[in-house]
Amino acid sequence: MDFKPANNIQDLQYFGEFGGVNPSISDSSTYTFLSAKTMFDTFEGNADGCYLYSRHSSPSNLYLGEALAAMEGTETAHVAASGMGAITPVLLQLCKAGKHIVSSRTIYGGTYAFLKNFAPRLNIQTSFVDITNLDAVAAAITPETKVLYCEAVSNPLLEVADISGLAELAKKHQLKLVVDNTFSPLAISPAKLGADIVIHSLTKFINGSSDTVGGVTCASREFIDSLKSVNDGASMLLGPTMDSMRAASILKNLRTLHIRIKQHSQNAFFLAQKFENDGLRIVYPGLTSHPSHELYASMMNEEYGFGGMMTLDAGSVEKANKLMELMQQKNLGYLAVSLGFYKTLFSAPGSSTSSEIPLEEQKEMGLSDGLIRFSIGLDNDIERTYQIMKECMIEVGVL
Ligand SMILES: Cc1ncc(COP(=O)(O)O)c(C=O)c1O
Repeated sequence: MDFKPANNIQDLQYFGEFGGVNPSISDSSTYTFLSAKTMFDTFEGNADGCYLYSRHSSPSNLYLGEALAAMEGTETAHVAASGMGAITPVLLQLCKAGKHIVSSRTIYGGTYAFLKNFAPRLNIQTSFVDITNLDAVAAAITPETKVLYCEAVSNPLLEVADISGLAELAKKHQLKLVVDNTFSPLAISPAKLGADIVIHSLTKFINGSSDTVGGVTCASREFIDSLKSVNDGASMLLGPTMDSMRAASILKNLRTLHIRIKQHSQNAFFLAQKFENDGLRIVYPGLTSHPSHELYASMMNEEYGFGGMMTLDAGSVEKANKLMELMQQKNLGYLAVSLGFYKTLFSAPGSSTSSEIPLEEQKEMGLSDGLIRFSIGLDNDIERTYQIMKECMIEVGVL
């Protein structure tokens, strides 16, 4: 596949109002019209280039959205106040009451909780399946199914979805394939592999400085327009709007994403190999021991590697907790949820980001109590990091 997402970002050329090298930030919630007729036409959706109200769109949000659409190779995109602020409107836009979703069972805990506990209130039901088993996915599709939902690389188990295979299934059954690409920006381009809608939590790698939450939906113009419709658009009517100031700051961080992803990937690959050789149970898509290593390799934009996320099984929750506390004391990173920061972040998903998933289901999907999820940082001297981390593991008896 010859898709160059970082070139698409690099090639964007935006001028500020006074010739500035950054686009001017639009610091307004509402916009004037020279004629009342144009205002009417804008509300009817018939006046291109006019802004009506910033919950619908604003120049700063459009700049960021267009940059992310360029990155994913979709017609356009719509930014949101958080990843969940992108995910939930998409699902509600696609599914009326009585409709059905087939979702991967290993997804971010918040998305899981929405599908499992909240959507049924609106009579939208979800079947959770092993997304790596296309037969199981096909078997779960019913006449009411509208959406196939997965994460390209899943949170927290790092399962890899066969996006082309899922896209074929979606086409056959006239479903929309929605892919959350939060764990693998630049490395995987789901729309190029056949996904209809690509979502990101911008909170993570894309912004990369852990100073805000944000989200985006990248899709066809038709779908994005439907999300923004003043009459029945879920984004417009539920209102998870990103602030213009934030859109401008995320756009600035997006420009260095390619450099950061390469460093995250390189560091994670180094540690994954070292710790696997030391005899630890490591899950990392770049290791040949990962069951979907070949699949990831067949889908990836090669230069970005296998990503910055890795898991380690410490054997028990007690050991996992001790190890994380010690690693924080030794300043290897922070005991914190989230990902994509310059420092390594570690957490035990069973008791944090996946705690919404009942224990029994966690076990069934292979999420053990001692699992630690790492978002590996941008450390310049990863050999030094490895040595200190190894000492911590020896001290708490993980190694
Ligand atoms: C894969 C994935 N998708 C979506 C989200 C939700 O994003 P946000 O926290 O920005 O709402 C998260 C957050 O942890 C995530 O890890």
